[in-house]
Amino acid sequence: MTAVNRRIVLDHRPDGIPGPEHFRRDDQPLPEPGDGQVLVCNHYLSIDPAQRGWISAGIGYADPVTPGAVMRALAVGAVAATRNAKYAIGEYLYGWFGWQDYCVAAEPQVIARVQPEQGSVSAGAGLYGICGVAAYLALTELGRPRAGETVLVSTAAGAVGSVVGQIARRLGCRVVGLTGSDEKVRQCLAEFGYHAALNYRSGLDDAALRTLCPHGVDIFFDNTAGEIADAVWPFMNLRGRVIQCGTAAVGSWDPPPTAPRRERAVLSKRLRHEGFIIFDHLERFAAVIAQLARWHREGTLVFHEDIVTGLECAPAALASIFRGENRGKKLVHISDGTRAL
Ligand SMILES: NC(=O)c1ccc[n+]([C@@H]2O[C@H](COP(=O)([O-])OP(=O)(O)OC[C@H]3O[C@@H](n4cnc5c(N)ncnc54)[C@H](OP(=O)(O)O)[C@@H]3O)[C@@H](O)[C@H]2O)c1
Repeated sequence: MTAVNRRIVLDHRPDGIPGPEHFRRDDQPLPEPGDGQVLVCNHYLSIDPAQRGWISAGIGYADPVTPGAVMRALAVGAVAATRNAKYAIGEYLYGWFGWQDYCVAAEPQVIARVQPEQGSVSAGAGLYGICGVAAYLALTELGRPRAGETVLVSTAAGAVGSVVGQIARRLGCRVVGLTGSDEKVRQCLAEFGYHAALNYRSGLDDAALRTLCPHGVDIFFDNTAGEIADAVWPFMNLRGRVIQCGTAAVGSWDPPPTAPRRERAVLSKRLRHEGFIIFDHLERFAAVIAQLARWHREGTLVFHEDIVTGLECAPAALASIFRGENRGKKLVHISDGTRAL
């Protein structure tokens, strides 16, 4: 029987890539849900590149985590106690539950109900979490791909990128991936349906891009920004679309890094450069998950999870994704059941 809620809190803001030195344990008594709330027992913590932004001062679209507060994180957990008639004990939920064993959650913290029969409990934070849903919505609604167009994807073998690649291929596009290792290139070609892929660490230059994209790029699904994006932008076609889904290659925005000016290309090629934030689209989750689940069930949508075990692993897991060490959606498994209350 435990009366303790193990928590990982932000100790101080990183200057660049976050690592274990920026966090500390701060255990507290088990919280109790109030009216309208549920107590969630976390099973899988989601490790997301966006967490670097969530602990930075200049995040741009939300308040940053305050030092001393539980690390902001999405997670899948089971309802352990409920004072909200909408949620039953034992039901799995996906939401803002943080790096901790237990979370008292109110309605707005819950993003989706998890249906393990659609794959697994962990899939609720993986394919059916923000990565799969963002991949689907950003590609189809901002990119509006047409058959025959070239779609180029950065972080091509990752949780978002691998789904973008497979959906673009399904829609009849020529799909090109940029990723950080030869092994991931192999995965892109053999598993995720890319027509061509390149390890950007082994030479991303004009000649390489001309070979990868002989007809230019119609849709650039950009998850990295930085030098990778600088190399790709000159290859955008007339009326091309650049989807800004992430900026994983930029270690800090304070001060903002310098880059080639893009305005002339936007003007002369009539480009559309649009940002996407999944949290603007929470009402779409259920419908998109149903579509992803259909494809997954019929075996035409592959998704990899890279799971480590133990709450204490979370900070190092976050650092590892900025070294490109993850092989799919990074998750931390911390429980299988509801601990005794
Ligand atoms: N806008 C939204 O709503 C939304 C939602 C979910 C995710 N995202 C974004 O989508 C992107 C991918 O997220 P994910 O969860 O699918 O992660 P992921 O791709 O599974 O893992 C992160 C990957 O980023 C790449 N990376 C890390 N540091 C890099 C660097 N300095 N330069 C270039 N690449 C680097 C690595 O891949 P390589 O080994 O291939 O370099 C790493 O494996 C992130 O930018 C994330 O913020 C956005």
